[in-house]
Amino acid sequence: VDFIQAGDMHFPTNWSTGGISPDPRVNVHRIKRMKAREDDILICAFPKAGTHWTWEITHMLLNEKAEYAKKGKETAMLEFHIPDEFDDWPSPRVLNTHYELHNIPREMIDKKCKIIYIQRNPKDVAVSLYHFEKSFAGEDYVRSWDDFVHTFLHDVHTYNNYFTCALSWEHALKNNPDLNVLSLYYEDLKEDPIREITKIARFLNVSYTEEFIAEIAEKCSFKAMKAGDKEVRRHELQNWANYFPDENFTPEESIDRMSNTFFRKGDVGDWKNWFTVVQDEMFDAVYEEKMKDSKLKFRFNL
Ligand code: A3P
Repeated sequence: VDFIQAGDMHFPTNWSTGGISPDPRVNVHRIKRMKAREDDILICAFPKAGTHWTWEITHMLLNEKAEYAKKGKETAMLEFHIPDEFDDWPSPRVLNTHYELHNIPREMIDKKCKIIYIQRNPKDVAVSLYHFEKSFAGEDYVRSWDDFVHTFLHDVHTYNNYFTCALSWEHALKNNPDLNVLSLYYEDLKEDPIREITKIARFLNVSYTEEFIAEIAEKCSFKAMKAGDKEVRRHELQNWANYFPDENFTPEESIDRMSNTFFRKGDVGDWKNWFTVVQDEMFDAVYEEKMKDSKLKFRFNL
């Protein structure tokens, strides 16, 4: 199958993991060879397309409880862990990644593991990614929004260029109809969570009731999920503080900063608050050119 042989990752050479280990660029070779279980479930998304949201929903459906996962989404990200770290996870494991299809564990393809792929319109992804980077880097961040838009459009960004990723997924799905993939859009999930969560439940083949789906939709609304995530982080940070007491450490500040970094606004169409008319026209022109052979239909507003 052609996507497996496609090239490796295209991180910009100056990309920094901010000290996180292992480095996803190196780790990709281990992850590709990772052992998979038939009931593994993998959430795939370009950064900022709704990975966390889909992961939490999937978790609830499989656990038959509308309760947040006890550990943050980052603990389940393939690229930031060596495969052994997932060995003692109980089945079914719900993992997630921003790797493209040709970089996920080969065994997951061979064993026809369920893959949920979520996409989001590129203007909102750009705004979200810009704020994420900025918030993550803190005061050291010097890049302007205008510069960011140019890079996002023309260059390789974190993991890869947005358009290259979208097109490579589209190509792979079209040419490999046997792949066990459910394709979703962030905008659809926002528009009608009940409908989309039901789709996920059917794909996962779990039993559900209308009440349960409604409960998950409520728990996974932006506001509720942000509050839930804070609780998880508070718990994790408290453990950390117990191990490494530091009198200058202010857990609440740190929790707020992390929470606002991962849960910023959660809307469709926030890009209109950021794009100037010039940037928007430039974006549209590049979009049309890059996506001219694509059948993808992104919605930029609801
Ligand atoms: P914004 O920056 O536009 O708010 P990912 O998990 O792939 O990194 O995606 C992060 C984006 O999804 C952020 O977008 C985040 O706020 C949004 N998000 C997270 N949980 C959400 C939810 N429950 N409902 C809507 N959007 C959510």
